[in-house]
Amino acid sequence: MNDAETTQNSAAQPLEERVNNRSQRPTSDAFKAFMASNWAPAAQVTPARDAVADHAAARRRAISGKFPGVRLVIPAGPLKVRSNDTDYRFRPHSAFAHLTGLGLDHEPDAVLILEPVEEGTGDDGGNHSAALYFRPLAGRDTEQFYADARSGEFWIGARPTLAEFEARLGLPTAHIDELEVAITKNVGAPEIGGIAIRLVRKVDENIDALVDTARYNTAKDPENLDLAELDALDELLSEALSELRLLKDEWEIGEMKTAVAATVAGFADVVRALPRALTHERGERVVEGAFFARAREEGNELGYDTIAAAGNNATVLHWTRNNGKVHAGELLLLDAGVEAESLYTADITRTIPANGTFSDVQRKVYDAVLDAADAGFAAAQPGAKFRDIHAAATKVLAERLAEWGLLPVSVEEAISTEGQQHRRWMPHGTSHHLGLDVHDCAQAKRELYLDGTLTEGMVFTIEPGLYFKNEDLAIPAEYRGIGVRIEDDILMTADGPVNLSAALPRKAEDVEAWMAGIYEDAE
Ligand code: GLY
Ligand code: MN
Ligand code: MN
Repeated sequence: MNDAETTQNSAAQPLEERVNNRSQRPTSDAFKAFMASNWAPAAQVTPARDAVADHAAARRRAISGKFPGVRLVIPAGPLKVRSNDTDYRFRPHSAFAHLTGLGLDHEPDAVLILEPVEEGTGDDGGNHSAALYFRPLAGRDTEQFYADARSGEFWIGARPTLAEFEARLGLPTAHIDELEVAITKNVGAPEIGGIAIRLVRKVDENIDALVDTARYNTAKDPENLDLAELDALDELLSEALSELRLLKDEWEIGEMKTAVAATVAGFADVVRALPRALTHERGERVVEGAFFARAREEGNELGYDTIAAAGNNATVLHWTRNNGKVHAGELLLLDAGVEAESLYTADITRTIPANGTFSDVQRKVYDAVLDAADAGFAAAQPGAKFRDIHAAATKVLAERLAEWGLLPVSVEEAISTEGQQHRRWMPHGTSHHLGLDVHDCAQAKRELYLDGTLTEGMVFTIEPGLYFKNEDLAIPAEYRGIGVRIEDDILMTADGPVNLSAALPRKAEDVEAWMAGIYEDAE
């Protein structure tokens, strides 16, 4: 065959159809009729209303109050290709999960729409009525049932029906085929009776394109559409949705406790796996795997990639390669969180001696970090500023670094804006909000986040650390290769901070006793 013939043959079959080259796909009418017949009818169940439904309704009501007269479009996002024809496990966008109450694998391509109605006449007296658009379970007599490997029941199991979600969520549902009209109808400038849209962008590019097209088609002067201005208006919705999550409701706090409890159990699993990790070429992977098993058994997944870092790797802040050896005599820093089925995640770090006992210098560094964490807890009182936690924790660390002769300037100079020399060894923030995202509320305005006031219902971390790298020539050799972080998950209450992760020991002697107890129980 010459080149011209090869090109001709390749052109004859489009690339997307070549998936059919690896196996025969029957296409006869006889096959289709046979595959779509003689299946028992799907069970008709009407599930109970989810416990989260009323909370999700209250969240929608709060957002409705901020955007009267505007159509709000909140996509779940599509399946994402991992490689070729395999997808990542589906996880909906957090804003969608928050406003619907859906977790786990619900629901690729779905979109929540809050449709504006006359002010005060919408859901719960709000300004909108909500509806959820998604691709419901197809009947067993359809081609989708047996032929669609991404959504057909034959391939991936049963999926929800419109009636099921409606009953569970207390929310009207509609077929995804109606979505395009629902998003685009009557779009236009309010002054000519049109409806403005606000979209959570960059979640589903198909929905972005739909909204862009609708705006373009209905603009008075499409060629001069100010896309930057429209983006900025869309961002107001993302900002409001992020700020809505700054205060957790009672149901969310329950989910945080569930995620933390599973994470605490996962940390004990890791201690049990340590003897094997110490003998393995990639001991950090043994640690990672032990925790992951717990995350899948009790939750949906990990809330973020586990950091399983032994020795000097613990000084690499985002060490997720986890392919190192774990040596006796080193510290192991484990930063891990189970994501519950509701998608709320814990975020906990403990730094433990691989052989069960801290050396003197390891303990000296550990105790300094613990004192910093305790100072952070003391500063974390209702009415204080979020930023006070970091200031209190880092002041303690700067003082210790000065005592040890490592700080090249005074403590006062280091903690001043012009100094910050201590950040060579503590380069990250001490706290962040926690919830559906490990770094929750990330689009909130600065005045509500760093400069915000600690308020009952907030959930956040306190996580100071000290990281002395092997290659750091500014410190004596005895410190090098030691990385310590202690990270707890805090619920702010009217009476002060509650440490949700207190079931894991924090003091050095308690960590040693906890590890010894786990090994005794295993004997
Ligand atoms: N594990 C990510 C963090 O602690 O922020
Ligand atoms: Mn954290
Ligand atoms: Mn963490």
